[in-house]
Amino acid sequence: MDLFKKCYDFTRADEVKSQGVYPYFRAIEENEGPVVSIEGRKIIMAGSNNYLGLTSDPRVKEAAIKAIEKYGTGCSGSRYLTGTLDLHIEFEEKLAKFLGKEAVLLFSTGFQTAQGIIPTLVHRGEYIISDKDNHACIVAGNLIARGATVDLLRYKHNNMDDLERVLNKIPKDAAKLIVSDGVFSTGGEIVDLPRLVKLAKEHNARILIDDAHAVGVIGKGGRGTASEFDLVDEVDLTMGTFSKTFASLGGFVAGEAKVIDYIKHHAPALIFSASPTPPSVAAAMAALEILEQEPERVTQLINNAEKVRSGLKEAGFNVIDGRTGIVPVLVGGSDETALMMWRRLYDEGVFVNVFIPPGVPQGRQMMRTSYMSTHKEEHLDYIIETFKKVGKELGLI
Ligand SMILES: Cc1ncc(COP(=O)(O)O)c(C=O)c1O
Repeated sequence: MDLFKKCYDFTRADEVKSQGVYPYFRAIEENEGPVVSIEGRKIIMAGSNNYLGLTSDPRVKEAAIKAIEKYGTGCSGSRYLTGTLDLHIEFEEKLAKFLGKEAVLLFSTGFQTAQGIIPTLVHRGEYIISDKDNHACIVAGNLIARGATVDLLRYKHNNMDDLERVLNKIPKDAAKLIVSDGVFSTGGEIVDLPRLVKLAKEHNARILIDDAHAVGVIGKGGRGTASEFDLVDEVDLTMGTFSKTFASLGGFVAGEAKVIDYIKHHAPALIFSASPTPPSVAAAMAALEILEQEPERVTQLINNAEKVRSGLKEAGFNVIDGRTGIVPVLVGGSDETALMMWRRLYDEGVFVNVFIPPGVPQGRQMMRTSYMSTHKEEHLDYIIETFKKVGKELGLI
């Protein structure tokens, strides 16, 4: 049997393309933030994670250009060897201070961060307890750890009764890590952190929270999930990304200095991969400075998302409730309807992300929309009106 048979047999994408409703890998030709150009047309972007609209901020661009001029375009080595710049260290210190943690370690992507730290920290005979809806990078980290015969247990999504049930199955004195998204990337819900922390204390577990969609979005001045609940000291490790609020590329983990130092000397994903490039680090650091100086952007983001959330709910859409930058609209159990809705929104000038199985469970097909602090009233009104028009056409409202 040829290894590539599965590739030759894969026709689903071509079938969807032939129906004209293929939503993925669309090339953006220009990007001003809330408005982008695709296929020569201006379209309102309602699917980006550019939460504070900083990818086109002149201060962020300038910082990236200056870093290229000073350090060049890449580091050509891992942090461990020749890839550490003073810029990496400066940013780690600033981010640690912002998050109220002793130390931060940068990785080259958020995905690599989870994949790097989970198997590095959890060893044979120790336990990972993971929310069933955690992001794919946590799943990848868990699987690498399980390959090293770590015990992996999963609990129902954001269900603390189920977490307690799972914890009760594990010896109290065993070393364990509870892992959860802070803001869940698909549904946009916030983890029930107060109960999670209480259970972790009772069961002697450490906590890792993935704040990819939380930093710059929730918490005091956008300081993320732990800050939202006044539990910064109780959350052992917070990880995140620079590909959303921070308008760049890269990942980080924040925590106790001794733990960060251990990860630094043991995580293969850090040691055997080139460090984040100078413009990526400089752009993310400039974005952090803007976040600190202009916290009103966070409020604006939440208000913008809320305007659309309540507008769509009022119109009769099945919207998952929340108070983050993500507004998911459930569209029933048909992939065809979901893809058609995406196409109609796109034709009318609104870009959203369509999620169908296996990305979401069957029946949870959705238009996952997300907002920026830089969306204007007229953009948001247009998004709501267009959803109404298309929703009526498809019999969804
Ligand atoms: C919850 C969550 N964690 C991690 C990541 C990965 O971040 P990055 O884009 O830096 O690889 C993402 C991005 O999609 C995410 O949504």
